[in-house]
Amino acid sequence: MSRPPTPLHGWAHLMTHQLAAVSLQLADIQRLVASDMGQVDALIRGRLHSRVDLIVEVVEHLIAAGGKRLRPMLVILAGRACGGHGQGLHKLATIIEFIHTSTLLHDDVVDESSMRRGRSTANAIWGSLPAVLVGDFLYSRSFQLMVELGSMQIMQIIGKTTNQLAEGEILQLLHVHNPDVDEAAYMQVIKHKTAVLFAASTTAGAILAGADRELQRRMEVFGEHLGYAFQITDDVLDYTADAEQLGKNLGDDLAEGKVTLPLIHAMNFSQGAQRNRLREIVQNGGMDAMDVVMEAIQSTGAVDYSRRRAHEHARIAVSMLGGVATTDSVAALRALAAYAVERSY
Ligand code: IPE
Ligand code: IPE
Ligand code: MG
Ligand code: MG
Repeated sequence: MSRPPTPLHGWAHLMTHQLAAVSLQLADIQRLVASDMGQVDALIRGRLHSRVDLIVEVVEHLIAAGGKRLRPMLVILAGRACGGHGQGLHKLATIIEFIHTSTLLHDDVVDESSMRRGRSTANAIWGSLPAVLVGDFLYSRSFQLMVELGSMQIMQIIGKTTNQLAEGEILQLLHVHNPDVDEAAYMQVIKHKTAVLFAASTTAGAILAGADRELQRRMEVFGEHLGYAFQITDDVLDYTADAEQLGKNLGDDLAEGKVTLPLIHAMNFSQGAQRNRLREIVQNGGMDAMDVVMEAIQSTGAVDYSRRRAHEHARIAVSMLGGVATTDSVAALRALAAYAVERSY
């Protein structure tokens, strides 16, 4: 039966903070960082070289499709919000995007996904082995760049973060097809697989900019909660989005028996035969029962509930910016928090 929502790690008192009245749209934020991101893009492309043609081909396929470049933008904006600028931030942004891209290559193999960024996935085109190995190549290229950056503190953060990313994917694997996964277990997974990389982006950006400990901590908490908001929204979109706009197939999570927040809520708040049927669907996986799941998600208000939770985390993120001198970069970070929960792709 129903159980109380998981407490928000003691941050609940901050939930009265409002998200920014969103005057800045994503395009405005992109314009604000256009010059920095142009240099990041040049660095990304410039550092993808390899003598092995297959590597270049696979990476080009994914990188040329773009992606939102949200994490590199976070590096730039957090760095600028803390008074930083320049090449170090561009290199850090590149490192983070390489790590992210590498996890996407691996994730699509694990999830057996066939669409990413509006294109066929690398595993669908070249097979799982090249996709995994090219993911490893990107990971290790990011380590080379990290050494060039030369900050022991940033190496520590990124070393720990990549370790946690791996733990997140493995934890998720352990939970597959388990109808008893609850909200706390789900939060633990999304912390490890997503929120830590957002937090590393903002914290390391702040460190490079020379921020003091308090400012580093604010940026870390901002990034972590933005990551929760972003991933919960991603999990809602897996049930509700327009596949073409999203650039990924819908229903991937259910198909592979992955229990995310909308489904957890639907299982918690359904009863009797409906509840048993949902549990059975999770155990057996498969898309044939999508209409049953959608009906349960609708009748239990699971989308609204999940979106509320995402908003709560976005508000906590924004509350962290309260003590930071307001600049256009800070305004952009605030707007990104709103974007993370309002986006449709
Ligand atoms: C996808 O991240 C993985 C999740 C954490 C949901 P993004 O949605 O940021 O992927 P791209 O880089 O824009 O394609
Ligand atoms: C995010 O999880 C995975 C990573 C952090 C790489 P998902 O499996 O939900 O991401 P999508 O939906 O495939 O982008
Ligand atoms: Mg996936
Ligand atoms: Mg997803």
